[in-house]
Amino acid sequence: MYTEEVMEHFKNPRNMGEMENPDVTARVGNPSCGDMMNIYMKVGEKNGEKYIEDIKFKTFGCASAIATSSVTTELAMGKTLKEAEQIEEEEVAEALGGLPKIKMHCSNLSANGLHEAIYKYKKKEGMEISDDLEKKHEIAQKTLEKTEEMREEHGLDEE
Ligand code: FES
Repeated sequence: MYTEEVMEHFKNPRNMGEMENPDVTARVGNPSCGDMMNIYMKVGEKNGEKYIEDIKFKTFGCASAIATSSVTTELAMGKTLKEAEQIEEEEVAEALGGLPKIKMHCSNLSANGLHEAIYKYKKKEGMEISDDLEKKHEIAQKTLEKTEEMREEHGLDEE
């Protein structure tokens, strides 16, 4: 069963849609179900630290994928890149009052999307990238390739 929070975010997703002139975009996928998430971010600077000024998403996926994407953008909004990098799937699921076990991987999609967007921004700006973020990026790249193959195989239209 889904919690009220999941249903609420699914029915009224926050920060959904594309962004005009984002500083960075990223895409991640889940090859087991074929769901995909696009993430758009604007990065600002306060007190010498980079932070997420605006963040939006477009997810092609299940109710949990939409709800977790929505709550992930809420969790990340206004956070410094350093803080946002620490947001993991458990925190995302917790913010929704929990997810059915079988749906836990859906929260991974949105956490991965956030990490991938941060990676891409840091790369673009020549900022230092931790080993952990580098590893996450490598996995995200591989799983995205597999997801795209899977979607093509099953004729899943994107838009
Ligand atoms: Fe694919 Fe939820 S079933 S992310």
